[in-house]
Amino acid sequence: MTIVAPADAAAIARAATILREGGLVAFPTETVYGLGADATQAWAVARIYDAKDRPSFNPLIAHVADLEAARREAILPELALRLAAAFWPGPLTIVAPVAPGGAVCDLVRAGLPSVAVRAPAHPIAQALIAALGRPIAAPSANRSGHVSPVTAAHVAEDLSGRVDMILDGGRTAAGLESTIVSFCEGSPILLRPGAIAREAIEKILGEKLAAPAHTEILAPGMTPSHYAPAARLRLEALDLNEGEAALDFGARLAARAKPGAFVLDLSPSGDLVEAAANLFAHLREFDARQIANVAVAHIPERGLGEAINDRLRRASAPKLN
Ligand code: TXA
Ligand code: MG
Repeated sequence: MTIVAPADAAAIARAATILREGGLVAFPTETVYGLGADATQAWAVARIYDAKDRPSFNPLIAHVADLEAARREAILPELALRLAAAFWPGPLTIVAPVAPGGAVCDLVRAGLPSVAVRAPAHPIAQALIAALGRPIAAPSANRSGHVSPVTAAHVAEDLSGRVDMILDGGRTAAGLESTIVSFCEGSPILLRPGAIAREAIEKILGEKLAAPAHTEILAPGMTPSHYAPAARLRLEALDLNEGEAALDFGARLAARAKPGAFVLDLSPSGDLVEAAANLFAHLREFDARQIANVAVAHIPERGLGEAINDRLRRASAPKLN
């Protein structure tokens, strides 16, 4: 049975007890909902993969209270410390070599010599980490291959009966997952574009972020169809075909749609932050309405547009399973 509860103090205390006993708790972060387990218990972490129907053991993010807790798990070089100072708590994940004596279990790292750490900004996530007193391993709280959840109702759709508790903290603010930067090679690498724009990170680093050399190996969770909804997406559409719905941006397609066509706009005013926040909820809405074909308007590749386009390209890729 899955308990769904508004995330008040009593519910957070109960959630921490569930985690301590090896259970699973879905909780809001400022990006998307996470499916959490005590990162120090391999059994509990294994249940995450089971609940998500994940075909393989992809490495997970360890959510920590603060920089000090992160440094117990990862060896953070100078540039990583600078990013942490600028963006933590917040939607930045740092991948770095694992620290000797770190508490995060092997399974969270999928056996890699590196670990992904992030100090989330959401007060409910922070309260839960504080109450547990250990890092929380948490991928996005969706079934494998589905889009990431931004409300407790989305989590319940995918994971009801598979998790012990869902903490309801309303809709998440960013709507896109955290930006992941790796410090395992010589220079910092952008493993996943996300809620913090590349430009903002490069400004703090004082250098450009490199592209991953072998995406599949560095971030195995990022297979092309990772974010796929059921609907077929046609990107960079200039017009609507017969029978297509539209995922619009800045009201580009709405003007050309036939009366009665179903149009959702990521941001009628053309704001990329608003578009990021709406992305996954809109994709789910097409599926809820059993819409088969969606034309997607052009979205500029600057700022958060890079992460939005990354997710849309994955969502439009042929399904692998
Ligand atoms: O915003 C977020 O980051 C959300 C919330 C819940 O915090 N979490 C999230 O987790 O998106 P998940 O598991 O869906 O994505 C984690 C990504 C995966 O692509 C994984 O491959 C990568 O992080 N990752 C984790 N540890 C890694 C490591 N040691 N080396 C390379 N990639 C790693
Ligand atoms: Mg995910």
